[in-house]
Amino acid sequence: MKINGKPFRSIWYDADQAVVRIIDQRWLPHELRITTLKTLEEFETAIVEMWVRGAPLIGATAAYGIAEQMARDPGDGSLEQAWERLHSTRPTAINLRWALDRCRAALLPLSPQDRAQAAFQLAHELCDEDVEINRSIGLHGLKLIREIAAKKPGEPVRLLTHCNAGWIATVDFGTATSPMYHAADAGVPIHVWVDETRPRNQGALTSWELGSHGISHAYITDNAGGHLMQRGQVDMVIVGTDRTTAEGDVCNKIGTYLKALAARDNGVPFYVALPSPTIDWTVRDGLTEIPIEERSPREVTHIQGQTADGISEVQVTPDGTEGGNPAFDVTPARLVTGLITERGICAASEQGLAGLFPDLASKAAG
Ligand code: MRU
Repeated sequence: MKINGKPFRSIWYDADQAVVRIIDQRWLPHELRITTLKTLEEFETAIVEMWVRGAPLIGATAAYGIAEQMARDPGDGSLEQAWERLHSTRPTAINLRWALDRCRAALLPLSPQDRAQAAFQLAHELCDEDVEINRSIGLHGLKLIREIAAKKPGEPVRLLTHCNAGWIATVDFGTATSPMYHAADAGVPIHVWVDETRPRNQGALTSWELGSHGISHAYITDNAGGHLMQRGQVDMVIVGTDRTTAEGDVCNKIGTYLKALAARDNGVPFYVALPSPTIDWTVRDGLTEIPIEERSPREVTHIQGQTADGISEVQVTPDGTEGGNPAFDVTPARLVTGLITERGICAASEQGLAGLFPDLASKAAG
């Protein structure tokens, strides 16, 4: 997508300097800063401390982390160690393991001297694939938006989204935002309710993205969605996912479940934009089988924002208050209207997913 008219991806390989560069999300939405990642430690830190974030982007970053490590030490032990260290950075998004497994499976059979070049090539391919997957999700999601638009001529379709499943959470286009970008580009009027998404306020990233693309939106508190749905002001919810089970349970940013409950109570369609690398075919019950990341309580007791002196952090709770910070929750498949994938839209169920992805489902079944 473009920033001030210039096309960007969230991560890219700078071939002139032979380095990997990222949009450093610590400073967004206030400042655009580009950071270079070189060592395995830097890749680990970038994922743990959320300089990069969002399930697909975490996977792409890990693939480049493996490639940089192979350039330094292409031995078997080094590959295994890089897999382990990158895998332990964040526990919930399955794209991380998906990308790491793909790298390991492709590189282990090669002789060490061939691994670095192959690893970089694979990382470039994973990024390009992500872009195409998300483009496709956008085109399928656009059909749903058009259907709603046809029922209310002259009025905007009002969408609600949670967290940032936008282009900076992927390599490009985003998942939940891709239908929005495609709708805007096709001239279908939309308005997006953007959940702030405490504690880290990823909604501010979504607002920055939508604003840069000229899409009408409003930044709302996490508690406002149910009220807007009761008043008939939300036509459709679209969220992303960090891991979706083989039976269609959706694990996404904390608070997603509450939006799904409110949507069900108000008859609002609740869709999940799901790239196939985010499906964990080995897991059936999201509630008991998906590890939920616990992040630092400081993310809850403190808040970061822009002041006259730059970006700074303030404490919002009394001294000594204990914080709790589960970062994801699970929305059971029964609350999901449909999954928007790169191959089309399906029910959030085993039949729905296996119907669209028979190749992946049977591979997982062994
Ligand atoms: O903790 P984050 O910011 O990495 O969480 C991101 C989300 O929950 C996104 O909704 C999800 O990764 C989908 S991104 C296309």
